[in-house]
Amino acid sequence: MPKCRICDGPVQEFFDFGRQPVSDVFPAPGEIGTEHFFRLAVAFCEKCTTVQQLEEVPRDRMFPTDYPYRSSGSTLMRQHFERVAAHFLATELSGPDAFYVEVGCNDGIMLNSIRDAGVRHLGVDPAEEAAKVAGAGGSRVHVGFFEESSAREIRAAEGPADLIFSANTISHIAYIDSVFAGAGVLLDHAGVFVFEDRYLGDIVEHTYFDQIYDEHFYLFSVRSVQAMAERFGFELVDVEHLPVHGGTMRYTTARKGERTPTAAVDRWLERERAQGLWELATYDSFAARVKENCDRLKETLTRLRAEGRSIVGYGATCKSATVLNYCGIGAESISFISDSTPEKQNRVTPGSHIPIRPAEAFRESYPDYAVLFAWNHAEEIMAKEQEFKDSGGRWILYAPNVHIV
Ligand code: TYD
Ligand code: ZN
Repeated sequence: MPKCRICDGPVQEFFDFGRQPVSDVFPAPGEIGTEHFFRLAVAFCEKCTTVQQLEEVPRDRMFPTDYPYRSSGSTLMRQHFERVAAHFLATELSGPDAFYVEVGCNDGIMLNSIRDAGVRHLGVDPAEEAAKVAGAGGSRVHVGFFEESSAREIRAAEGPADLIFSANTISHIAYIDSVFAGAGVLLDHAGVFVFEDRYLGDIVEHTYFDQIYDEHFYLFSVRSVQAMAERFGFELVDVEHLPVHGGTMRYTTARKGERTPTAAVDRWLERERAQGLWELATYDSFAARVKENCDRLKETLTRLRAEGRSIVGYGATCKSATVLNYCGIGAESISFISDSTPEKQNRVTPGSHIPIRPAEAFRESYPDYAVLFAWNHAEEIMAKEQEFKDSGGRWILYAPNVHIV
């Protein structure tokens, strides 16, 4: 039986999505076939409750220098990070000569607000192209992966950090022991390591199975992060649930004994216990719902196409890679996917090879149906594309079950 990456305990596999490509590398038409595939299977550790994948993708394949993801593409996320930055500027970073380090700063969506406030900062990101965008905005970025060795270099050059923050990145890193060791080296004794990631409780509750793809190596819960922090000499001292990305949890960790845990930690632990997040049976029934949703989606698209309806996708998300490749949906059903990211346009989706076009292509001639792969931005997108609805178009969603609106 495979072993838990956190506690070495035995883990139980509960879903196998089969051969899946790296989700955020979009081949140009001439590069089809160069995708890196791996077995996407998820497992549950009955000892520490961590949900994790069983096969690790080499990090350079997941996060190459030209990694196309850009955090700033969503207005909602820009507003979210402005609020997060304001919160930290008033708290952890309010002291004299505070030092802020951000793991996975991408294009600077958060980092730039810290810089604008005149606070000493350093982003760390291996995606050079995205980091250049942050740099062009005047932010300082160390291009590379965050781990114990790079944390040592940063500490030697810059001194201790008051806050290490990371959004949608820590769960991507299989070798998390080295990340915590790095935080241990770099943080000031009273500093905090804060990270936010997709929340397992929401994924299970709403059957958001497409949140499972290569980058989400761990699907964190309060209980599993508490166990993980403890294992690495830290303590989970606060949690906050956030509505972004379909449900996110922010975890605040500190060196053991440095801060008193808030009541929110216990409150969420109790909620997780009641939800069954610490029991294997919960994941077995989740798996049954995933199969059902995927069958229904494939049937629905096949039927609509047989009736002569046109279908496109909206948002060439990482999440869509799992849906398309697991369900076996390609360009025969979905003629193209509209996406606002220039780095993805005129390329194809990994594994399923559906062309990606700018939103203008969507607006040029509205299809009968659009599968909303970027459902986490539903409000923003549906408002922006009201004319599609007005012209008789319908959105197809596939979680918590397949439905058409
Ligand atoms: P994202 O929410 O980051 O999902 P994932 O983490 O699964 O990749 O991706 C949203 C995608 O949708 C991104 O490629 C940009 C695109 N998008 C649009 O095309 N139009 C929009 O209005 C918005 C908000 C996003
Ligand atoms: Zn474990």
